[in-house]
Amino acid sequence: MHPKKPSSRSAKMRSRIVGSALLLGSVVQASIALADERPTLCDRLGGAAFLAQVADELVEVSRADPVSAHHFAKVNLKRLKQQIGIQLCAVSDGPCVYDGDDMKSVHAGQNINEADFYRLVEHLRVILDAHGVGTREKNELLARLAPMKRDVVTK
Ligand code: HEM
Repeated sequence: MHPKKPSSRSAKMRSRIVGSALLLGSVVQASIALADERPTLCDRLGGAAFLAQVADELVEVSRADPVSAHHFAKVNLKRLKQQIGIQLCAVSDGPCVYDGDDMKSVHAGQNINEADFYRLVEHLRVILDAHGVGTREKNELLARLAPMKRDVVTK
């Protein structure tokens, strides 16, 4: 029995450490790749173009609703639809960047109360249902919009 030379043992140890580091590296890389490929909520909802369509319908339904119509009487509807579409896309991790004014500023002085807020959310829910959006995706989107209530509701 010849005891192994310390130098050969430490070489083996080094190569094991390097091997483990390489393995760990590829596991990390693979997980990053997986994370990147996971569809965003925006994708799962139907994509940016679909959300633009949803925003369009949301504004149309809201202004046709006798209870909320007065809020939308003097508004640039084309811009409002566009901005809401971009925001729905951005809030669901889509490729859009919402660079409009913050929710508090755009809704300031609009006299929006809690009932107005829930009514709009209800319109949105009905539109998403009509397009066959899944319950899970729909609730995820609504959950991301819910915290905006404190900035939108001023009455
Ligand atoms: C989560 C709910 C809501 C979201 C995500 C949202 C989103 C937006 C966005 C992005 C804008 C900016 C448009 C622009 O820059 O021209 C805006 C403006 C506006 N929103 Fe909302 N909104 C919400 C709730 C409401 C509610 C409940 C009402 C009223 C019933 C409302 C009425 C308006 C009006 C009238 C404007 C136009 C303000 C103006 O042009 O002076 N919004 N909203």
